[in-house]
Amino acid sequence: MWRLICILFVVGISTDIEAQPAGANYDEAKVPAYLLHDPLIMADGTLVKTVKQWDKERRPEILKLFETHEYGRTPDPIKPKFEQISENKKALGGKATRREVTVFLTGKEDGPAMDLLIFVPNSAPKPVPAFLGLNFAGNHAVHSDPGIALARCWLRETRDVSVTNNRATDLGRGKEASRWQVEKVIERGYALVTACYCDIEPDHADGHKTSLRSMLRPKKSTKPAKNAVPPKGAPADAGPDEWGAIGAWAYGLSRAMDYLEKEDDIDEKHVAVLGHSRLGKTSLWAGAQDERFAIVISNDSGEGGAALSKRRVGETVERINTSFPHWFCINFKKYNDNEQALPLDQHMLIALMAPRPVYVASAEKDLWADPKGEFLAAKHAEPVYRLLGLEGLGVDQMPGLNQPVGKTIGYHIRTGEHDVTEYDWARYLDFADRHFKKK
Ligand code: GCU
Repeated sequence: MWRLICILFVVGISTDIEAQPAGANYDEAKVPAYLLHDPLIMADGTLVKTVKQWDKERRPEILKLFETHEYGRTPDPIKPKFEQISENKKALGGKATRREVTVFLTGKEDGPAMDLLIFVPNSAPKPVPAFLGLNFAGNHAVHSDPGIALARCWLRETRDVSVTNNRATDLGRGKEASRWQVEKVIERGYALVTACYCDIEPDHADGHKTSLRSMLRPKKSTKPAKNAVPPKGAPADAGPDEWGAIGAWAYGLSRAMDYLEKEDDIDEKHVAVLGHSRLGKTSLWAGAQDERFAIVISNDSGEGGAALSKRRVGETVERINTSFPHWFCINFKKYNDNEQALPLDQHMLIALMAPRPVYVASAEKDLWADPKGEFLAAKHAEPVYRLLGLEGLGVDQMPGLNQPVGKTIGYHIRTGEHDVTEYDWARYLDFADRHFKKK
């Protein structure tokens, strides 16, 4: 019944395949033939022809598919409590005001909390637009400013010694600065708001035991199947569509947005949410659920983010569910080595951002994240933008390296590795200028 789009793609991107995780397919000639659901055909076969049908019927239907099969259902939010813990009006040599604000996620001071780090440009007229994104290594890693508090949460240990016994040390200060480009963002008149994702849930299979996910369970959760094997990465009695860690991190982004709605210096109608890699998957899921995010940006988000799962290039559903059993809902494991049975793919997630601008970025040497699959997902979201009277990507072929394209859907593939670079930020700032500063 459903109209399906059939795609078989044969192209090549030259890169150093040896540097990618082994055992995965990186060969376009070995991409299986696959079928994608048309984002404009309802599950019952009805063609979506009007904006109203999209808004009232198809969009909720697609959102529900992602809740049920991939990320799990997010519980109704609890009103958070905010407390400003520091302010420096002369940060960055006088160019910015730096604030730190604790967000008590359950509204209680003895519950889980997330520390926001906020830089607001001093010279720009207020309120200013903002970029909001979660960071991997703690707020103190985002900039070398010694006034930023060290992260208090569990942190992943890295090969260097900046994290010891899963705790931050001063050696981690500024370690991720190249990924944040704070000065450039401020110079362009935007605020930068960030928090460490491990404040919301530590990123390991038992992280849910100490996080929000053990306290805030979705209502009316479907029961675990009889004889179900106790899930890894979720509470023992978790329903098959109960939220995973990506859902919890996305919830944290929405609570940060709750704070921005109260922050006088920031224009809450012009907040771009962005994230890299697993946090790019998170920014997409946050943007899909919470329409207050005015622009959504995915940087090298790959499998479970912007890349089409059905292509099985680089990381597959089985690999991601095995390495990271806590990220998605239990139902997603049904699609291990069975992607073709998915009733969705990631182009439909990108379509959920419409009519808001969305940007998908890839990196040439990041085959694990399947750049071509990221481009194609952006491309196949386009019909929804067109229905809403907007130009989407505006090109049919994947552009060359470092050649950004797109109108309401932006895309680029840059040279280099899996990372967020100055080049990526420059494109996001241009994209935000184009959409936020329209005359
Ligand atoms: C791993 C994982 C990816 C993820 C990435 C990251 O490579 O397999 O899915 O995007 O980590 O978050 O850096």
